[in-house]
Amino acid sequence: MYYINKITFSMFITITLLWSITLTRIYAESRECDHTKCVKTLADTTIDMLIATRSVVAKNQDLINVDPVSGNYYFKGFVPAMVGSEVANDFSLMTGHKLKQTSLKLRNPNNAPDEWEEKVLRSFEASGYPKGAGFGEALVTGDNKIYRYMKPIYVEKACLECHSTKKNLRPEIRKFLEERYPYDHAFGYKEGDVRGGISITLPFGN
Ligand code: HEC
Repeated sequence: MYYINKITFSMFITITLLWSITLTRIYAESRECDHTKCVKTLADTTIDMLIATRSVVAKNQDLINVDPVSGNYYFKGFVPAMVGSEVANDFSLMTGHKLKQTSLKLRNPNNAPDEWEEKVLRSFEASGYPKGAGFGEALVTGDNKIYRYMKPIYVEKACLECHSTKKNLRPEIRKFLEERYPYDHAFGYKEGDVRGGISITLPFGN
């Protein structure tokens, strides 16, 4: 049984509202950007918004995973990355701009990086890369000019609940992961590690 309690529901509403405000702004502004600084700010803000959304979901796992009847722990699978990909998919459908979360150590193979993302993810992991800095560049594909941008995401304490060593996981979470992700490589992280990146593609100066 999948229960949605009041807290989960109000979180959904808040996330949806904040995202529609951001989306409206992005949709209106991205086409008017005619220099890199403008499109970079837009890309950076959008990604920060997705990182914040994911982080809220990670920090509130204890509130979310409660059986409303018994009050006991009940893992619902409402995890940050799931919310992240749903928001990213909706965003892409609404605006036509691609937003995606990816990593070099994948849990879900659908999140695999493309060539550009893989190259940038490797640079995030290189020693001396400035923590938290995004990387972006204007590119030409066919007749279109696009701007690609990616920001690293780091492992926080709350992420360890599902991304630390397998033996440290709650049995409910371990079971859920084993059933859904037979090719799961997203274990063994510690706080501060680069977990992956959020990448966005925007039209630019067309
Ligand atoms: C309650 C469990 C849980 C927590 C907490 C959690 N994750 Fe995940 N994570 C998952 C699951 C499940 C997936 C696969 C989601 C999917 O199918 O797209 C995933 C996937 C990801 C991905 C996408 C790449 C991939 O491997 O498929 C990233 C990036 C990621 N997590 C980062 C984080 C970060 C950063 C945090 C902390 C802010 C975090 N996760 C917290 C369960 C969790």
